[in-house]
Amino acid sequence: MVNILVIGSGGREHALSWKLSQSSKVETVFTAPGNGGTENNVSIDINDLDGLAEFAQKNNCFTVVGPEDPLAAGIVDKFNKLNLRVFGPSQAAAQLESSKIWAKNFMKRNNIPTARFEIFDDPQKAEDHVKSIDYNVVVKADGLAAGKGVIVCNNKDEAISAIHTILVKKTFGNAGNKIIVEERIDGIEASYIAISDGNVAIPMASSQDHKRIFDNDKGANTGGMGAYSPTPVITDILAKKIQEEVIEKTIHAMKHEGISFKGFLYAGIMLKDGVPYVLEYNVRMGDPECQPITMRMNFDLYDYFVASVDGTLSSMPLLSWKDQFAVCVVLASSGYPGSYPTDDEITGFNSISNETHVFHAGTKKSDGRIFSNGGRVLGVTSLGDSLNSAIRNAYSATEQIIWSNKYCRTDIGKKGLSYFLD
Ligand code: AMP
Ligand code: GLY
Repeated sequence: MVNILVIGSGGREHALSWKLSQSSKVETVFTAPGNGGTENNVSIDINDLDGLAEFAQKNNCFTVVGPEDPLAAGIVDKFNKLNLRVFGPSQAAAQLESSKIWAKNFMKRNNIPTARFEIFDDPQKAEDHVKSIDYNVVVKADGLAAGKGVIVCNNKDEAISAIHTILVKKTFGNAGNKIIVEERIDGIEASYIAISDGNVAIPMASSQDHKRIFDNDKGANTGGMGAYSPTPVITDILAKKIQEEVIEKTIHAMKHEGISFKGFLYAGIMLKDGVPYVLEYNVRMGDPECQPITMRMNFDLYDYFVASVDGTLSSMPLLSWKDQFAVCVVLASSGYPGSYPTDDEITGFNSISNETHVFHAGTKKSDGRIFSNGGRVLGVTSLGDSLNSAIRNAYSATEQIIWSNKYCRTDIGKKGLSYFLD
């Protein structure tokens, strides 16, 4: 039996902790720092790598890293040096997410389909470039900006203002010392996530996120307002194409460049005319994609984490999934992704039925009561035999959960419905 330390405090980490605690090989799952829904919380910050290493060492833990920040800071390299078992990519491999410029150049030199782009640190040159081209652009800060450093522009004025926001006003701090100006691709977006051991990659179930704050993909970008799995957008033919032309190509090219990619590799895909363009890589599970994906897992996730670390994924059986849909509706604090109130008491958890699991994100527990404590607060995740029934189950559960500043989109999963006749 092994103890697990899950690092993070979001819905993704609650889902990972929940799934790992079901393994017959796992004794105790600790979560650092965790939230109001996770058990055995350890109050160590995700950036306190020394504190986390000390805890993992003392408690004999196998560590699972949820968010990107500690990965980019080199937590895996540090733990490996101390002979601590840890699932996730090294600092060098995490560059796929921590530097968008590194990732774009990597894709370019390895012929991985991605939007054409230019890199700038001088606002005037960026502006001149925008004025000289005849297509719409997306302006991206190079570094990590908590999912906010990407500005999708509708015209040249917006592009010029985005360049100023990032390079001159420094809204994203040093993450915006350099920018990418890339072609905007208008297609259908989906998330493709695989687990790798540096040599092979096994695909997770497909999923689709809903990034904008309002229905019909209107309003500001968020961390993600809901997700469902599987998505009919990724047909078997497309899945094979993405697996071979994006995921395996990436893992092999990384290896060729001397970097072994272990962990979850997430490709944010834009599908246009049958071509899967990579919008971004993440080097971790998606949040909220992780919640519906874990709900459908019919296998011991811990076994696959071990195989990723040990380089033995090729000898593992293919993943087996519940033949059902899962839908996660994020309940947020109204105002998110801007400023929002916290400390509202949340009730109604007792009325939730069996096909639903409520994953916590921005919550805290006090005297056995649950209070809001963040922007994205809960991920109400339900199974159903059709996408429609999973959507119905999730939304009827969201109505049971009550607090004064609750907000959710009302159309999670709807994008997928048009692919079915039911
Ligand atoms: P990212 O943080 O890189 O995932 O970008 C946030 C969102 O911006 C993505 O989920 C897309 O909706 C959008 N986006 C990023 N790059 C592009 C692009 N080249 N064309 C169109 N939309 C994009
Ligand atoms: N849901 C998108 C992300 O985790 O970055």
